[in-house]
Amino acid sequence: MSATQRVPFKPVLARRTMPLVLLALSGCDSRTSMLAGAGRDAILVERLFWIMLAAAVVIWAAVNGMAFYSSRATARPDRESTARLFVLWCGMVIPSVVLISLLVGGMFLLRDMRSARPDLALAVDGEQFWWRVTYDTPQGPVVTANEIRLPQGRTAGLTLASTGVIHSFWAPALGGKMDLIPGRTNRLTLTPVEPGRWGGNCAEFCGTAHAQMRFEVEVLPAADFDAWLAAEARPARIVSDEGLAVFTSAGCGACHTIRGTQAAGTAGPDLTHFASRHMMAAGVLPQDRAALRAWVRDPDTLKPGALMPAYPDLPDDRMEPLLDFLAGLE
Ligand code: CUA
Repeated sequence: MSATQRVPFKPVLARRTMPLVLLALSGCDSRTSMLAGAGRDAILVERLFWIMLAAAVVIWAAVNGMAFYSSRATARPDRESTARLFVLWCGMVIPSVVLISLLVGGMFLLRDMRSARPDLALAVDGEQFWWRVTYDTPQGPVVTANEIRLPQGRTAGLTLASTGVIHSFWAPALGGKMDLIPGRTNRLTLTPVEPGRWGGNCAEFCGTAHAQMRFEVEVLPAADFDAWLAAEARPARIVSDEGLAVFTSAGCGACHTIRGTQAAGTAGPDLTHFASRHMMAAGVLPQDRAALRAWVRDPDTLKPGALMPAYPDLPDDRMEPLLDFLAGLE
């Protein structure tokens, strides 16, 4: 084959991989996407991403254009002085300008992201494998789990810590990612600008149930948030004394707190307003009776690695009042 013969372009690879790419993209979810920014920091990061992508496309096109040009048999060899200038500009000057611009732009972005002054304080602790969320309120701490509610337009200052292993807190639609490191306290601010329910994940491998250590951030109008926090600060509503008796006698209070009862354990999630949460078991199960029954019977099957003990032998005449009691904790 002579150098001037053209090889016909056969997009076989593109045809074969495109369905796979589309299939993968169908799993994308705007609730957990940094490309659907719903928080101040996420919007800043998203903007930087698009600038970097645009620059990368321009550089890619330029490099490929030059490669294409130089591969043509008709391209004349350059003089040595031209080649030197080319190396100087394309090998040193332009890459240096691009990299330094990105570095400086990134540092300004970081400064902007750290400049927000929080007007709401909450602590997020990484547990195995769930999230303990504690709001600091004038009436005292309000503890919940796996679901963070935030007021729209206000800045929340999160204090991130862990007692066991390293976890990482990431709600991509709202802001940056931050590790939770034992023996250390990290801080992150979130300023949500759009109401809605946004997803988050543990983004650092932390053990068996790492992939099932999810959370949700629900952004509410400020007035709704204040009403929710006031309700959350109240003690539990007991709808079944019989269920509470089962809860107590089965020893659940050794691990769980229910404010307004004797249960004051701290190893597991605070259940005072358990039924007001949208999901159970750190985003793994829906909040419904069948899921709750299955969870109490055998948590490890539903979420391997969960530390909650199983109650496979709890008879129905004790299980049903227990479920009534838990489902009433709104
Ligand atoms: Cu916690 Cu991964």
